[in-house]
Amino acid sequence: MKKDTVTFTDNTTGKSIELPVMRGTVGPPVIDISKFYKETGYFTFDPGFMSTASCRSKITYIDGDAGILRYRGYPIEQLAAKSSFIEVAYLMLYGDLPCASELERFTALIRRHTMINESLKSFYQGFYHDAHPMAVMVGVFGSLSAFYHDSLDINNPEHRELAALRMIAKMPTIAAASYKHSTGEPFIYPKNKLGYCGNLLHMMFSVPSEDYQIDPIAERALDLIFILHADHEQNASTSTVRLAGSSSANPFACVSSGITALWGPAHGGANEAVLNMLDEIGDASQIEKYIAKAKDKSDPFRLMGFGHRIYKEYDPRATIIRQMCHEVLTKLGKEDDPLFELAQKLEEVALTDDYFKERSLYPNVDFYSGIIYRVLGIPANMFTVMFAVARTVGWVAQWMEMISDPDQRISRPRQLYEGTSLRDYVSIERRAGCDLGEK
Ligand code: CMC
Repeated sequence: MKKDTVTFTDNTTGKSIELPVMRGTVGPPVIDISKFYKETGYFTFDPGFMSTASCRSKITYIDGDAGILRYRGYPIEQLAAKSSFIEVAYLMLYGDLPCASELERFTALIRRHTMINESLKSFYQGFYHDAHPMAVMVGVFGSLSAFYHDSLDINNPEHRELAALRMIAKMPTIAAASYKHSTGEPFIYPKNKLGYCGNLLHMMFSVPSEDYQIDPIAERALDLIFILHADHEQNASTSTVRLAGSSSANPFACVSSGITALWGPAHGGANEAVLNMLDEIGDASQIEKYIAKAKDKSDPFRLMGFGHRIYKEYDPRATIIRQMCHEVLTKLGKEDDPLFELAQKLEEVALTDDYFKERSLYPNVDFYSGIIYRVLGIPANMFTVMFAVARTVGWVAQWMEMISDPDQRISRPRQLYEGTSLRDYVSIERRAGCDLGEK
């Protein structure tokens, strides 16, 4: 029988070694190079992790060439059509869809932890009112590590589960308070009879002096967007959470580092950047100009919400969100939304352009999500916060998976060192090119 290995031959020495090949349930085979350095003296080089599987996982599967995304084996299209965010959260954490009593228990547990410690509120006061809500999120969420650090033993599965529930439950409360801080309105306590997304809308948009009715269309739209954003395997923010967590760091602090990574415009910050870009483009007459800018290598401008490291096909989440845009705008009587029309026109022009075709650049999840957020009354600087609330489920599930993996060890990449190899210390007065003292 053929061995499941690949052979590496060092042409400088003629020495060959066999490298084991690992096979997942689906997806490309993976060459195990963990002993490569020990056996050959070589490191491998892969900046940006273009060809590197950084871990084993059973949570999310993506086939970027075929435009496939599955959570725990379930196609994203089925979950979007039939499931709810809270059910998807359960699926992510525990591996299977819940039965009715499990879902009820899980929902009750999440509800139990929605409040934040009163003293945490004063943290917000340290931020100026125009601070970006993502900056506030990084700080306030990270500070949760101070509240639970002493009672959290990450080697204890029950403690880990409690931390996971707290993170998922408190994130909307912290997100809504970030918004309220920017508007100057009082913070609103969670109302636990509401659903996860309904509660978030309530905490963001209600005020103590008025009755607030949650719009079921808005609640369902948010729930659906959250399902689509819940996880995306080893993306930059999730890898950040895993990397930070690999040192056995406090999970609240690890998730805070995930929020930081998510904020960048190449990642979750793209949804805000798309809206700013559409506002800047203004109308269809400007599209050609901006397409030309995106293609111009001397111009840093990129078409935001376009392109993806993994999808070389239409991002399946973008397909669902674009369809949702039609439905939500129609239900809200805003089917002529000029921004949606502009976005669709921009997509049409880009997808027929050779530059975008040759590079397989398609709309990604962030291209249309902001259009829905905007019609729901969510301001652009809160878009990435919405993403963070949904992705918390993925971060937490991936962190749990990593910590419970018996093979888990600290993540410690190596490097290709290109600096000076060795030199002797020179006293300051003898340094060449220095204008002090004798040369
Ligand atoms: N506009 C113009 N050109 C682009 C774009 C774009 N949006 N995206 C990629 N390219 C070009 C890029 O210049 C390069 O061209 P060339 O081969 O001539 O050098 C080629 O396409 C490959 O791009 P890359 O930057 O090497 O690809 P990457 O996998 O490193 O980056 C990306 C992926 C998502 C960061 C990038 O496509 C991008 O910056 N897109 C815009 C930002 C964005 O929408 N991000 C959200 C990603 S999805 C949600 C999430 O991750 O949270």
